[in-house]
Amino acid sequence: MGKIRVGIIFGGMSSEKEVSLNSGRNVYDNLDREKYEGIPVFMDDKGGLWILPWQLVSQNTTIDISEQLDGAARRISYEGLKDEIDFAFISLHGKYGDDGCIQGLLELQGIPYTGPGVLASALGMDKHIQQKILKAHGIGVPESTVVREEEWRQNGKDVEKRLIDSFGIPFVTKPTREGSSIGVTIVRDSSSLEQGMTEALKWDTAVLVEEYLDGTEFSCIILEENGKPLPLALTEIHPQSEFYTYDDKYMPGRCRKFTPPKNIPADVVEHIKKEAVRAFKALGFKSYGRIDGFVLKDGRVLITDPNSSSGMAPSSFFFEQAACAGMLPSMMISRLIETSLQIHSEKKGPLEG
Ligand SMILES: Nc1ncnc2c1ncn2[C@@H]1O[C@H](COP(=O)(O)OP(=O)(O)OP(=O)(O)O)[C@@H](O)[C@H]1O
Ligand SMILES: [Mg+2]
Repeated sequence: MGKIRVGIIFGGMSSEKEVSLNSGRNVYDNLDREKYEGIPVFMDDKGGLWILPWQLVSQNTTIDISEQLDGAARRISYEGLKDEIDFAFISLHGKYGDDGCIQGLLELQGIPYTGPGVLASALGMDKHIQQKILKAHGIGVPESTVVREEEWRQNGKDVEKRLIDSFGIPFVTKPTREGSSIGVTIVRDSSSLEQGMTEALKWDTAVLVEEYLDGTEFSCIILEENGKPLPLALTEIHPQSEFYTYDDKYMPGRCRKFTPPKNIPADVVEHIKKEAVRAFKALGFKSYGRIDGFVLKDGRVLITDPNSSSGMAPSSFFFEQAACAGMLPSMMISRLIETSLQIHSEKKGPLEG
Protein backbone atom coordinates (compact mmCIF):
# COMPACT_ATOMS: atom_id res chain seq x y z
CA MET A 1 0.00 0.00 0.00
CA GLY A 2 1.22 3.52 -0.83
CA LYS A 3 1.59 6.34 1.62
CA ILE A 4 -1.51 8.15 2.85
CA ARG A 5 -2.14 11.10 0.55
CA VAL A 6 -2.64 14.11 2.80
CA GLY A 7 -4.32 17.02 1.05
CA ILE A 8 -3.39 20.27 2.74
CA ILE A 9 -6.23 22.65 1.90
CA PHE A 10 -5.41 26.34 2.10
CA GLY A 11 -6.26 29.75 0.63
CA GLY A 12 -10.03 30.00 0.50
CA MET A 13 -12.69 32.66 0.40
CA SER A 14 -12.38 34.27 3.82
CA SER A 15 -10.71 37.42 5.10
CA GLU A 16 -8.03 35.11 6.53
CA LYS A 17 -6.84 33.58 3.24
CA GLU A 18 -3.30 34.96 3.60
CA VAL A 19 -3.05 33.60 7.14
CA SER A 20 -4.27 30.30 5.74
CA LEU A 21 -1.50 30.32 3.11
CA ASN A 22 1.09 30.73 5.88
CA SER A 23 -0.45 27.87 7.86
CA GLY A 24 -0.82 25.58 4.84
CA ARG A 25 2.71 26.19 3.62
CA ASN A 26 4.14 25.43 7.04
CA VAL A 27 2.11 22.22 7.36
CA TYR A 28 3.16 21.17 3.85
CA ASP A 29 6.83 21.87 4.61
CA ASN A 30 6.75 19.96 7.89
CA LEU A 31 4.74 16.95 6.80
CA ASP A 32 6.59 13.72 7.57
CA ARG A 33 7.43 12.38 4.08
CA GLU A 34 8.29 8.96 5.48
CA LYS A 35 4.64 8.48 6.39
CA TYR A 36 2.65 10.75 4.12
CA GLU A 37 2.50 12.12 0.64
CA GLY A 38 1.68 15.83 0.76
CA ILE A 39 -0.76 17.19 -1.83
CA PRO A 40 -1.19 20.98 -1.84
CA VAL A 41 -4.87 21.79 -2.48
CA PHE A 42 -5.52 25.46 -3.09
CA MET A 43 -9.01 26.91 -2.74
CA ASP A 44 -9.39 30.03 -4.87
CA ASP A 45 -11.47 33.02 -3.84
CA LYS A 46 -14.58 31.57 -5.51
CA GLY A 47 -14.29 28.24 -3.73
CA GLY A 48 -12.73 26.38 -6.69
CA LEU A 49 -10.20 23.66 -5.84
CA TRP A 50 -6.82 23.27 -7.52
CA ILE A 51 -4.00 20.77 -7.13
CA LEU A 52 -0.87 22.91 -6.97
CA PRO A 53 2.63 21.98 -8.06
CA TRP A 54 4.76 22.22 -4.91
CA GLN A 55 6.72 25.13 -6.34
CA LEU A 56 3.67 27.39 -6.04
CA VAL A 57 3.31 26.73 -2.31
CA SER A 58 6.13 29.14 -1.53
CA GLN A 59 4.49 32.10 -3.25
CA ASN A 60 4.05 35.12 -1.02
CA THR A 61 0.32 35.81 -1.40
CA THR A 62 -2.81 34.00 -2.57
CA ILE A 63 -3.00 36.54 -5.41
CA ASP A 64 0.43 35.44 -6.65
CA ILE A 65 -0.81 31.86 -6.64
CA SER A 66 -4.17 32.72 -8.25
CA GLU A 67 -2.47 34.50 -11.14
CA GLN A 68 -0.51 31.35 -11.98
CA LEU A 69 -3.28 28.77 -11.61
CA ASP A 70 -4.16 28.57 -15.29
CA GLY A 71 -1.35 26.63 -16.87
CA ALA A 72 0.55 25.67 -13.72
CA ALA A 73 -2.15 24.06 -11.55
CA ARG A 74 -4.83 21.45 -12.12
CA ARG A 75 -8.47 22.42 -11.46
CA ILE A 76 -10.50 19.64 -9.87
CA SER A 77 -14.21 19.29 -9.15
CA TYR A 78 -15.51 18.92 -5.59
CA GLU A 79 -16.36 15.31 -6.38
CA GLY A 80 -12.89 14.77 -7.83
CA LEU A 81 -11.25 15.57 -4.49
CA LYS A 82 -11.69 12.02 -3.20
CA ASP A 83 -9.67 10.67 -6.13
CA GLU A 84 -6.75 12.94 -5.20
CA ILE A 85 -6.43 12.64 -1.43
CA ASP A 86 -7.08 10.14 1.39
CA PHE A 87 -7.13 12.70 4.19
CA ALA A 88 -7.73 16.45 4.39
CA PHE A 89 -5.56 18.60 6.59
CA ILE A 90 -7.72 21.70 6.80
CA SER A 91 -5.48 24.76 6.83
CA LEU A 92 -8.31 27.05 5.75
CA HIS A 93 -9.31 29.69 8.28
CA GLY A 94 -12.50 31.68 8.73
CA LYS A 95 -15.72 31.56 6.76
CA TYR A 96 -16.16 28.54 4.46
CA GLY A 97 -13.02 27.14 6.12
CA ASP A 98 -13.37 26.35 9.79
CA ASP A 99 -17.09 27.11 10.03
CA GLY A 100 -18.53 23.78 8.87
CA CYS A 101 -18.73 24.46 5.12
CA ILE A 102 -15.64 22.55 3.98
CA GLN A 103 -16.34 19.94 6.65
CA GLY A 104 -19.76 19.29 5.03
CA LEU A 105 -18.14 18.88 1.64
CA LEU A 106 -15.56 16.43 3.03
CA GLU A 107 -18.29 14.42 4.78
CA LEU A 108 -20.16 14.08 1.48
CA GLN A 109 -16.97 12.77 -0.15
CA GLY A 110 -16.16 10.40 2.73
CA ILE A 111 -12.78 12.08 3.28
CA PRO A 112 -11.54 12.17 6.91
CA TYR A 113 -10.21 15.54 8.08
CA THR A 114 -8.65 17.48 10.97
CA GLY A 115 -10.76 19.25 13.57
CA PRO A 116 -14.41 18.81 14.48
CA GLY A 117 -17.48 18.11 12.35
CA VAL A 118 -20.00 20.48 10.79
CA LEU A 119 -21.87 21.55 13.91
CA ALA A 120 -18.90 22.12 16.23
CA SER A 121 -17.00 23.90 13.47
CA ALA A 122 -19.95 26.26 12.98
CA LEU A 123 -20.10 26.81 16.74
CA GLY A 124 -16.37 27.53 16.83
CA MET A 125 -16.95 30.35 14.36
CA ASP A 126 -20.07 31.92 15.87
CA LYS A 127 -19.05 33.92 18.92
CA HIS A 128 -22.63 34.72 19.93
CA ILE A 129 -23.98 31.17 19.94
CA GLN A 130 -20.82 29.70 21.50
CA GLN A 131 -21.13 32.11 24.44
CA LYS A 132 -24.68 30.88 25.09
CA ILE A 133 -23.46 27.29 25.19
CA LEU A 134 -20.48 28.04 27.41
CA LYS A 135 -22.70 30.00 29.79
CA ALA A 136 -25.14 27.09 30.00
CA HIS A 137 -22.18 24.94 31.12
CA GLY A 138 -21.24 27.41 33.85
CA ILE A 139 -18.11 28.57 32.02
CA GLY A 140 -17.24 32.25 32.48
CA VAL A 141 -17.74 34.42 29.37
CA PRO A 142 -17.82 38.21 28.89
CA GLU A 143 -21.11 40.06 29.24
CA SER A 144 -22.36 40.64 25.72
CA THR A 145 -25.22 41.51 23.43
CA VAL A 146 -25.86 41.34 19.69
CA VAL A 147 -26.76 44.33 17.52
CA ARG A 148 -28.23 43.48 14.13
CA GLU A 149 -27.43 45.65 11.12
CA GLU A 150 -31.02 46.75 10.61
CA GLU A 151 -31.41 47.83 14.24
CA TRP A 152 -28.20 49.86 14.10
CA ARG A 153 -29.21 51.59 10.85
CA GLN A 154 -32.70 52.43 12.11
CA ASN A 155 -32.08 53.27 15.80
CA GLY A 156 -28.38 54.03 16.12
CA LYS A 157 -28.79 56.58 18.90
CA ASP A 158 -31.00 54.27 21.01
CA VAL A 159 -28.54 51.44 20.48
CA GLU A 160 -25.65 53.67 21.58
CA LYS A 161 -27.46 54.63 24.78
CA ARG A 162 -28.36 51.02 25.53
CA LEU A 163 -24.76 49.87 25.02
CA ILE A 164 -23.27 52.62 27.19
CA ASP A 165 -25.87 51.95 29.91
CA SER A 166 -25.08 48.22 29.82
CA PHE A 167 -21.32 48.20 29.51
CA GLY A 168 -20.00 51.68 30.32
CA ILE A 169 -17.00 52.91 28.31
CA PRO A 170 -14.88 51.29 26.88
CA PHE A 171 -16.58 48.26 25.35
CA VAL A 172 -15.73 46.05 22.39
CA THR A 173 -17.44 45.57 19.02
CA LYS A 174 -16.65 42.63 16.72
CA PRO A 175 -18.27 40.69 13.88
CA THR A 176 -20.05 37.64 15.29
CA ARG A 177 -18.13 35.38 12.89
CA GLU A 178 -14.55 36.32 12.09
CA GLY A 179 -11.01 35.58 13.20
CA SER A 180 -7.51 37.09 13.31
CA SER A 181 -8.92 40.15 15.14
CA ILE A 182 -10.55 41.32 11.91
CA GLY A 183 -13.26 43.91 12.58
CA VAL A 184 -12.53 44.20 16.33
CA THR A 185 -12.68 47.72 17.85
CA ILE A 186 -12.32 49.03 21.38
CA VAL A 187 -15.07 51.65 21.56
CA ARG A 188 -14.23 54.70 23.67
CA ASP A 189 -16.74 57.31 22.41
CA SER A 190 -19.53 57.96 19.86
CA SER A 191 -17.23 58.30 16.90
CA SER A 192 -15.34 55.10 17.66
CA LEU A 193 -18.71 53.35 18.08
CA GLU A 194 -19.69 54.49 14.59
CA GLN A 195 -16.33 53.28 13.32
CA GLY A 196 -16.52 49.99 15.21
CA MET A 197 -20.01 49.16 13.96
CA THR A 198 -19.11 50.06 10.38
CA GLU A 199 -15.97 47.94 10.56
CA ALA A 200 -17.74 44.91 12.10
CA LEU A 201 -20.66 45.19 9.65
CA LYS A 202 -18.23 44.91 6.74
CA TRP A 203 -17.86 41.28 7.72
CA ASP A 204 -21.21 40.18 9.06
CA THR A 205 -24.82 41.23 9.46
CA ALA A 206 -24.66 41.12 13.25
CA VAL A 207 -22.21 42.71 15.67
CA LEU A 208 -21.25 41.19 18.98
CA VAL A 209 -20.77 43.84 21.66
CA GLU A 210 -18.83 42.79 24.76
CA GLU A 211 -17.78 44.34 28.03
CA TYR A 212 -14.15 45.44 27.91
CA LEU A 213 -11.91 42.99 29.74
CA ASP A 214 -8.96 44.37 31.62
CA GLY A 215 -6.46 41.63 32.38
CA THR A 216 -3.96 39.18 30.91
CA GLU A 217 -4.73 37.27 27.73
CA PHE A 218 -3.94 33.61 27.28
CA SER A 219 -4.25 30.92 24.63
CA CYS A 220 -4.41 27.19 25.23
CA ILE A 221 -4.01 24.48 22.59
CA ILE A 222 -5.95 21.32 23.30
CA LEU A 223 -4.93 18.09 21.67
CA GLU A 224 -7.20 15.07 21.81
CA GLU A 225 -5.53 11.78 22.72
CA ASN A 226 -7.48 8.51 22.85
CA GLY A 227 -10.73 10.44 23.22
CA LYS A 228 -9.36 12.67 26.00
CA PRO A 229 -8.71 16.38 25.47
CA LEU A 230 -5.23 17.26 26.76
CA PRO A 231 -4.30 20.90 27.32
CA LEU A 232 -0.76 21.82 26.24
CA ALA A 233 1.26 24.55 27.94
CA LEU A 234 -0.50 27.88 28.06
CA THR A 235 0.77 30.99 26.28
CA GLU A 236 0.55 34.38 27.98
CA ILE A 237 0.15 37.22 25.50
CA HIS A 238 1.48 40.76 25.84
CA PRO A 239 0.22 42.71 22.82
CA GLN A 240 2.13 45.75 21.71
CA SER A 241 -0.98 47.50 20.38
CA GLU A 242 -4.11 48.60 22.22
CA PHE A 243 -5.22 44.97 21.94
CA TYR A 244 -3.97 41.80 20.22
CA THR A 245 -4.44 43.06 16.64
CA TYR A 246 -3.91 41.43 13.24
CA ASP A 247 -0.47 43.07 13.01
CA ASP A 248 0.43 41.96 16.53
CA LYS A 249 -0.50 38.43 15.55
CA TYR A 250 1.37 38.17 12.28
CA MET A 251 4.05 40.83 11.90
CA PRO A 252 7.47 39.62 13.03
CA GLY A 253 8.65 41.04 16.31
CA ARG A 254 5.40 42.77 17.19
CA CYS A 255 4.17 40.91 20.23
CA ARG A 256 5.66 39.15 23.24
CA LYS A 257 4.31 35.69 23.97
CA PHE A 258 5.36 33.56 26.90
CA THR A 259 5.01 29.78 26.75
CA PRO A 260 4.66 28.67 29.52
CA PRO A 261 3.22 31.82 31.11
CA LYS A 262 5.49 34.27 32.86
CA ASN A 263 3.15 36.08 35.24
CA ILE A 264 0.05 33.89 35.56
CA PRO A 265 0.44 31.94 38.83
CA ALA A 266 0.69 28.13 38.61
CA ASP A 267 -2.66 27.47 40.32
CA VAL A 268 -4.43 29.85 37.94
CA VAL A 269 -2.73 28.14 34.98
CA GLU A 270 -4.14 24.80 36.17
CA HIS A 271 -7.60 26.34 36.58
CA ILE A 272 -7.43 27.86 33.07
CA LYS A 273 -6.48 24.48 31.59
CA LYS A 274 -9.50 22.87 33.25
CA GLU A 275 -11.81 25.60 31.94
CA ALA A 276 -10.29 25.29 28.47
CA VAL A 277 -10.95 21.54 28.46
CA ARG A 278 -14.52 22.15 29.65
CA ALA A 279 -15.06 24.65 26.82
CA PHE A 280 -13.57 22.20 24.29
CA LYS A 281 -16.00 19.51 25.42
CA ALA A 282 -19.03 21.81 25.72
CA LEU A 283 -18.69 22.88 22.07
CA GLY A 284 -18.03 19.35 20.80
CA PHE A 285 -14.57 20.16 19.43
CA LYS A 286 -12.60 17.21 18.08
CA SER A 287 -8.93 16.28 17.53
CA TYR A 288 -7.64 19.72 18.52
CA GLY A 289 -8.66 23.28 19.26
CA ARG A 290 -7.44 26.57 20.65
CA ILE A 291 -9.19 28.16 23.59
CA ASP A 292 -8.43 31.84 24.25
CA GLY A 293 -9.40 33.97 27.20
CA PHE A 294 -8.49 36.48 29.88
CA VAL A 295 -7.48 36.34 33.52
CA LEU A 296 -9.05 39.49 34.93
CA LYS A 297 -7.41 41.69 37.53
CA ASP A 298 -9.84 40.28 40.14
CA GLY A 299 -8.62 36.75 39.31
CA ARG A 300 -11.67 35.58 37.34
CA VAL A 301 -10.99 33.47 34.27
CA LEU A 302 -13.18 34.16 31.23
CA ILE A 303 -13.19 32.23 27.96
CA THR A 304 -13.52 34.74 25.12
CA ASP A 305 -12.64 32.88 21.94
CA PRO A 306 -12.82 29.11 21.55
CA ASN A 307 -11.48 28.23 18.09
CA SER A 308 -12.11 24.88 16.45
CA SER A 309 -8.83 25.23 14.56
CA SER A 310 -5.62 27.17 14.93
CA GLY A 311 -3.17 29.13 12.85
CA MET A 312 -0.13 26.98 12.08
CA ALA A 313 2.59 29.42 11.06
CA PRO A 314 6.05 28.65 12.54
CA SER A 315 5.63 30.85 15.62
CA SER A 316 1.93 30.11 16.16
CA PHE A 317 0.57 29.09 19.56
CA PHE A 318 0.14 25.63 18.06
CA PHE A 319 3.85 25.05 17.42
CA GLU A 320 5.10 27.09 20.38
CA GLN A 321 3.08 24.94 22.75
CA ALA A 322 4.05 21.77 20.88
CA ALA A 323 7.72 22.71 21.30
CA CYS A 324 7.12 23.20 25.00
CA ALA A 325 5.81 19.62 25.11
CA GLY A 326 8.94 18.39 23.29
CA MET A 327 7.26 17.93 19.90
CA LEU A 328 8.75 19.09 16.62
CA PRO A 329 6.23 20.53 14.12
CA SER A 330 6.43 17.32 12.07
CA MET A 331 5.62 15.22 15.17
CA MET A 332 2.68 17.43 16.09
CA ILE A 333 1.29 17.29 12.54
CA SER A 334 1.64 13.49 12.39
CA ARG A 335 -0.07 13.17 15.73
CA LEU A 336 -2.97 15.31 14.64
CA ILE A 337 -3.39 13.27 11.45
CA GLU A 338 -3.28 9.96 13.35
CA THR A 339 -5.79 11.18 15.96
CA SER A 340 -8.15 12.52 13.30
CA LEU A 341 -7.99 9.27 11.30
CA GLN A 342 -8.82 7.35 14.45
CA ILE A 343 -11.78 9.65 15.25
CA HIS A 344 -13.18 9.34 11.73
CA SER A 345 -12.79 5.55 11.75
CA GLU A 346 -15.14 5.38 14.74
CA LYS A 347 -17.89 7.79 13.64
CA LYS A 348 -21.42 6.80 12.75
CA GLY A 349 -22.64 9.17 10.06
CA PRO A 350 -21.05 12.62 9.79
CA LEU A 351 -18.68 13.46 12.65
CA GLU A 352 -20.87 14.57 15.52
CA GLY A 353 -20.32 17.82 17.42
N1 LIG B 1 -14.08 41.74 25.48
C1 LIG B 1 -12.82 42.09 25.19
N2 LIG B 1 -12.13 42.91 26.02
C2 LIG B 1 -10.85 43.30 25.72
N3 LIG B 1 -10.20 42.92 24.61
C3 LIG B 1 -10.85 42.12 23.75
C4 LIG B 1 -12.17 41.65 24.00
N4 LIG B 1 -12.54 40.86 22.98
C5 LIG B 1 -11.51 40.83 22.13
N5 LIG B 1 -10.48 41.57 22.58
C6 LIG B 1 -9.17 41.75 21.91
O1 LIG B 1 -9.33 41.50 20.53
C7 LIG B 1 -8.56 40.36 20.13
C8 LIG B 1 -9.32 39.57 19.08
O2 LIG B 1 -10.58 39.20 19.58
P1 LIG B 1 -11.12 37.72 19.51
O3 LIG B 1 -10.18 36.82 20.21
O4 LIG B 1 -12.52 37.73 19.97
O5 LIG B 1 -11.11 37.53 17.95
P2 LIG B 1 -10.62 36.54 16.84
O6 LIG B 1 -10.61 37.41 15.67
O7 LIG B 1 -11.51 35.36 16.82
O8 LIG B 1 -9.15 36.08 17.20
P3 LIG B 1 -8.35 34.72 16.78
O9 LIG B 1 -7.53 35.07 15.59
O10 LIG B 1 -7.49 34.51 17.98
O11 LIG B 1 -9.29 33.64 16.55
C9 LIG B 1 -8.31 39.58 21.42
O12 LIG B 1 -7.15 38.79 21.31
C10 LIG B 1 -8.17 40.72 22.43
O13 LIG B 1 -6.87 41.32 22.38
MG1 LIG C 1 -11.15 33.35 16.97
